[in-house]
Amino acid sequence: MGSSPFIIVAIDGGAASGKSSTSRLLAERFNLLHVDTGSFYRHLTSELLQRRVPVSDRAALLGALPALKFSTRLEGRSARLLIGGQPAGDEIRGQQVNENVSHYAAVPEVRAVLLDYQRGQVGVAKQHGFRGLVMEGRDIGSVIFPDADFRFFLHADPAERAKRRAAEGRQDSVAERDRLDSSRKTAPLACPPGAIDIDSTFLTLEQVVDKLAAQIAPKLN
Ligand code: CDP
Ligand code: CDP
Repeated sequence: MGSSPFIIVAIDGGAASGKSSTSRLLAERFNLLHVDTGSFYRHLTSELLQRRVPVSDRAALLGALPALKFSTRLEGRSARLLIGGQPAGDEIRGQQVNENVSHYAAVPEVRAVLLDYQRGQVGVAKQHGFRGLVMEGRDIGSVIFPDADFRFFLHADPAERAKRRAAEGRQDSVAERDRLDSSRKTAPLACPPGAIDIDSTFLTLEQVVDKLAAQIAPKLN
């Protein structure tokens, strides 16, 4: 037997479907780099709001995007996006970003500036000796890594997801973001053909992780 192959795990799903918790636990279990692309869109949104570049001002938006310089900082097993050398603050989980992020994420040019950066995380993972990466978002299995070794799509009833967010003490418009993310033209939220669809409404986090891990483990042994 040769050494284990480098694996790419793509996890997509709606808001609060369990992507981040599941990805973090898989990253620990299999020594993978964890890449939360939702945090990238949140950071970018926060940066543009701070620069007073409204999504409605297309000329200002297209003018601002090329000036943004991206780099990566590792925090444990997670890849953090730095913009102009700066990490995101707590405000990326706050109400203003929640309300705006799906609007910025619907702009094709905004998605385009993050595309190569996201694919470049494979290099980051290899450089730091990870066995692979687990990347979560909305379009990972459809656009970023359509040839990923594993593509999962997490479902959960919207009421259950809203309950999970509320249990975290966070105010979030789960259903509204899903509506915007599903209806946009570029890279909409949808389970891509061939992806493994998992409904977690009645599953615990541990049960979800075990289901995904059962698929991944044989490839790494
Ligand atoms: O954590 P939660 O599922 O609520 O959201 P998130 O993963 O942090 O993503 C925030 C927003 O970023 C989403 O509602 C999408 O509008 C956008 N996003 C995207 O368009 N494409 C991705 N690959 C990841 C996030
Ligand atoms: O990343 P995403 O927004 O998709 O979801 P998350 O932040 O991982 O999960 C939202 C919350 O739901 C967390 O507090 C999880 O612990 C919880 N969760 C759960 O209760 N049951 C699951 N099967 C999955 C997640």
